[in-house]
Amino acid sequence: MESELAGGRPGRSNARMDNPAPIGVFDSGFGGLSVLRAVRARQPAENLIYCADHAWLPWGERDVSCVRERARVLTTELMGVGAKAVVVACNTATAAAADWLRAESGLPVIAMEPAVKPAAAATRGGIIGVLGTGGTLASARFSALLERYGAGLEVITRPAPELVAAVESGDSAHRRQLVTDAVLPLIERGADVIVLGCTHFPFLRPEIEAIVGPEVAVIDTGSAVARELQRRVISGGLAAPSRNAGTERFWTTGDPQALRSTLHRLWGGGELERMPIPATASRPRQS
Ligand code: DGL
Repeated sequence: MESELAGGRPGRSNARMDNPAPIGVFDSGFGGLSVLRAVRARQPAENLIYCADHAWLPWGERDVSCVRERARVLTTELMGVGAKAVVVACNTATAAAADWLRAESGLPVIAMEPAVKPAAAATRGGIIGVLGTGGTLASARFSALLERYGAGLEVITRPAPELVAAVESGDSAHRRQLVTDAVLPLIERGADVIVLGCTHFPFLRPEIEAIVGPEVAVIDTGSAVARELQRRVISGGLAAPSRNAGTERFWTTGDPQALRSTLHRLWGGGELERMPIPATASRPRQS
């Protein structure tokens, strides 16, 4: 990535109490709505902007430099509307770009990684299964996570891009079979904890729990991210006035008309707008 993030360092200049500036949340698609849901539950007063990069979905199968560039474009856009903090609601983008965004944006950047640490604490048999994207599971960040918390454990990983597609498409006929194919091998090898290492997968939690049964814990990171965001917003003096009725705006780089019903299925409503792409942004590849 050559250019720096545009727009200066609004995180610092916006640092005051009763700050109604929005919090930006982004992902490749609608998976990060699982994080947005946790954020909204903790912080009803905050104004939230959710950015979905549908023109480039899925990120999990793209190379690191591409995902980093997309994270830069979306963060630039969020800074352009005065975001006071950014949530990387995506494990793949965290692995590719979180350190860079933190260094370059000057904003509080809250990111996420698969919940290996809580899984290590929860497992009784010492075997955990991690579902994620190819990008996350192949990343240096994930290897470091395993080195740090996975010692003495058997960690079985399974890239599951088909589950990302299933959440976006809502194809319920094949969903249960896809979930079974992804999860059952982990259970058969003795995993007693399943880590949902992609923000799309919490939308499949009912199907996953039905397959693994009550003896297997299913862990995701949405509420931990929401807790950390709240802590950073409060400690940075960035909180919205508590009397504010927080709003949500939804942006996509895809076709808002075509995607509105998916937003409604996953979020329960909301207006979807086409994200204004900055002049410096790369154009999506046709694929
Ligand atoms: N939801 C994203 C994640 O947490 C990425 C899914 C994709 O675009 O492949 O990794």
